[in-house]
Amino acid sequence: MKLNYKFPENFLWGAASSGPQSEGAANIDGKGESIWDYWYSTNPELFFNEVGPSDTSTFYKNYKEDIKLMKKVGLNSFRTSIQWSRLMPDKTSKVNFEAVKFYNNVIDEMLSNGILPIMNLHHFDMPMWAQKLGGWESREVVNYYVQYAKACFRLFGDRVKFWTTFNEPVVTPEMGYLGDWHYPCIVDGKRAVQVAYHEILASAIAISEYHKMDCSKDGSIGIILNLMPTYPKDYEKENVKAANIQDLFYNRAFLDPSVLGEYPQELIDLLKENGALPKYEQKDIETIKKNTVDFLGVNYYCPRRAQARTEKLDVDVFTPEIYFENYVWPMAKMNKYRGWEIYEEGVYDICDNIMKNYGNIPFFISENGMGVEGEERFINEKGQVEDLYRIDFVKDHLKSLHKGIEAGANCFGYHMWTFIDNWSWRNAYKNRYGFVSLDLKTQKRTIKKSGEWFKKVSKNNGFN
Ligand code: NOJ
Repeated sequence: MKLNYKFPENFLWGAASSGPQSEGAANIDGKGESIWDYWYSTNPELFFNEVGPSDTSTFYKNYKEDIKLMKKVGLNSFRTSIQWSRLMPDKTSKVNFEAVKFYNNVIDEMLSNGILPIMNLHHFDMPMWAQKLGGWESREVVNYYVQYAKACFRLFGDRVKFWTTFNEPVVTPEMGYLGDWHYPCIVDGKRAVQVAYHEILASAIAISEYHKMDCSKDGSIGIILNLMPTYPKDYEKENVKAANIQDLFYNRAFLDPSVLGEYPQELIDLLKENGALPKYEQKDIETIKKNTVDFLGVNYYCPRRAQARTEKLDVDVFTPEIYFENYVWPMAKMNKYRGWEIYEEGVYDICDNIMKNYGNIPFFISENGMGVEGEERFINEKGQVEDLYRIDFVKDHLKSLHKGIEAGANCFGYHMWTFIDNWSWRNAYKNRYGFVSLDLKTQKRTIKKSGEWFKKVSKNNGFN
């Protein structure tokens, strides 16, 4: 079929989720507490409608039917994560055999249905026992994470051939140590920098361990970053500088060490200036240098826009925000439910940046999507969500991706966030993102219009 937007052969058409957001069953079969389980038990009022992590979309119980449904929606790949706190419920790092059984079953079921599993190791879900040791602020926890990663490779690496060390590592320091939106709700930029550094170090050591193992011969390992192209308000020198600094802290602090093996000198200088360099050991520099990723996962929802500060920010502790202010472009199209700008051209700009500055490393769009509140308004008489807005959203982003691929970007897939509506941390089920809707009371799954549309796109490997 002649199509206007045809994608490369063997393109991955899939969807993404994570263990803590989809499995449910937070308290059974020997799972230990994660920071989310703990936080919900102490402060349920902080979560939308007080829905917590044990009420997530019951994938633990329904994985077989859900994987069949993936096939129905045309997915040829699916990314989820292993929950560290399910596999290693306590500090002894002994594996929980119920968890091994579950993840084995999930992987085998995907493979026997022709769905490529992509397994992520950490999705904001620190086990509570490791948080008590200091979480990502602690070097000891880096070592525990590496033991956990090695156990995953050993247990599942014969069948899982795509691994990622972290999903959106910027979120823990940004939301949990700079802002107070995620546990442990600390507001201290210096501590946030330590957290970010240990995540990158943990990722590099896990990569080095993976590459030593036999199962890596026909496998690869990457990291998933939410790259947000950062645009200045205009071309005024001060605004360009502000956007550059925002980019350094939120994108390049993760992208450069992961892909190029070193931190940007400009970022190091800024941290020094603020007395905010993290504690490190000399040998780490070599570890990070030598153990870069095989591929990248790129999550993209919206860009960042910045301008110079209009007034000085008076703070007691360091925060990168002393250098910039967020800028809202008056022409922006907005997803009003999330307050996020919709800017599909950002996908092309990401492709361009990866091509020009990051050696055109292979990557896939590991998340893209649209959260909508009150989606039941769009349910038709057949009981199906008619999410035409989501089809338009995905189409526009795919067109921009197609343009990037035509220009030479090495992109091998597109994954939607998400497959079945899932639990979005403190927002719980407020905004729905899935190709499949979930009735929270009955747990009934119904394919949305966008799911039917995606099936055709995947079958034809493109669209008009
Ligand atoms: C990115 C995160 O990886 C995921 O956990 C989250 O639910 C989605 N964005 C939607 O906000």
